[in-house]
Amino acid sequence: MNVYELIKKKRDGGELSKEEIEFMINGFVKGEIPDYQMAAFLMAIYFRGMKPRECVDLTMTMVHSGDVVDLSGINGFKVDKHSTGGVGDTTTLVLAPLVAASGGIVAKMTGRELGHTGGTVDKLESIPGMQVELPKEKFFEIVNKIHVSLIAQTATLAPADKKIYALRNVTATVDSIPLIAASIMSKKLAAGSDGIVLDVKTGIGAFMQEYKDALELAKTMVDIGEGAGRRVVALITSMDQPLGYAIGNAIEVEEAIKTLRGEGPKDLEDLVIELGSNMLLISGVVKSVDEGKKVLRENIKNGKGLEKLRELIREQGGDERVVDDTSLLPQCKEKIEVRSPRKGYVQFINALEVGITSKMLGAGRKKKDDKIDHSVGIYLKKKVGDEVDEGEPLAIFYTDGDRSKIEPAMERFINAYRIGDEKVEVPKFFYARVAKEGVEEY
Ligand code: URA
Ligand code: CA
Repeated sequence: MNVYELIKKKRDGGELSKEEIEFMINGFVKGEIPDYQMAAFLMAIYFRGMKPRECVDLTMTMVHSGDVVDLSGINGFKVDKHSTGGVGDTTTLVLAPLVAASGGIVAKMTGRELGHTGGTVDKLESIPGMQVELPKEKFFEIVNKIHVSLIAQTATLAPADKKIYALRNVTATVDSIPLIAASIMSKKLAAGSDGIVLDVKTGIGAFMQEYKDALELAKTMVDIGEGAGRRVVALITSMDQPLGYAIGNAIEVEEAIKTLRGEGPKDLEDLVIELGSNMLLISGVVKSVDEGKKVLRENIKNGKGLEKLRELIREQGGDERVVDDTSLLPQCKEKIEVRSPRKGYVQFINALEVGITSKMLGAGRKKKDDKIDHSVGIYLKKKVGDEVDEGEPLAIFYTDGDRSKIEPAMERFINAYRIGDEKVEVPKFFYARVAKEGVEEY
């Protein structure tokens, strides 16, 4: 086989065999195929797409590029959740303990920040003492004991994805349906859970901005997962504005704790209930989504979800007192109000820009090995549909006091808001549920 010929074949719209896909991916991982040829190959896929069979072969090749985690040492049906990436997406911190408190088993490997979106691992590390880099044996032990553990995805999990993603990130080939589907599903399949609930985001803050593309991505991932013998459900949800009010690390942990107390933002709570009920359904814990919702809501009310978070923090070496006293989380140096330049109604918030602004304040890395400031971030005071007076705060910036970061961030943040005279409806949040049986639109 010849790399040039295979690039040309895909460029001209041809269908690649399993062996041809393996040749390209394995050659690239081994360093035998240079970046420039892989970049051209990825761009050819971007324009020509892939047949479902090619996409499955790509995914499975990436799964087998590294360790495949065997979770059979943990008893019962293990269920995972994955979001395609959003801004202020605090979901996992609430969902994992709540599902575990409701009879599910969550042995989850999770990521760091990606592009303009945050990472659950970074958020967890803002809890003093919390360990996310645990050996497999410890991870299994914790899940067997308390039915939940959240750890950092290891570098040996789907290394092909890691290498390809880094190249896609700098060659404008991230937003390709077959490439995203293979990237996400290779990691999920390698991570070993029996069931997976996917939260496929659509809207301005998502990688798939159009609903029809999100739907195709969801169907592609469900087909790949079910084809590999797992139970998979995907929900398509909105990322038109940030989720909840908090965007950052420590402040998202605080938001998660509030939500488990029943005092969280409605959009975040509703999303947790919708995803969680599907996790319980595919786990066989409940007979219907509605029954799952009832159980989850009860376990917020009676505090069992919050108690499970406390156990999780304790088992992973963190300071569990944060559950009762969030002032034990890293505190920022200076809080600054961002005031509205005019009176009116919030009509639109560009979630992508808000994500970038939060990183400008120090909540993200500029270079791979940078340290994150866990205490900084953005707390929204106004969301779409809210009325605002001139000079009233749109948000509170949690900052380190460095004006050279704060001023450009403030300008960018204000420009992310559109404020007008007419009141607008809150945008649609749930779009569809995609399962093996078909698509249900909400
Ligand atoms: N998240 C991933 O893990 N991979 C992608 O390609 C896009 C989002
Ligand atoms: Ca949030």
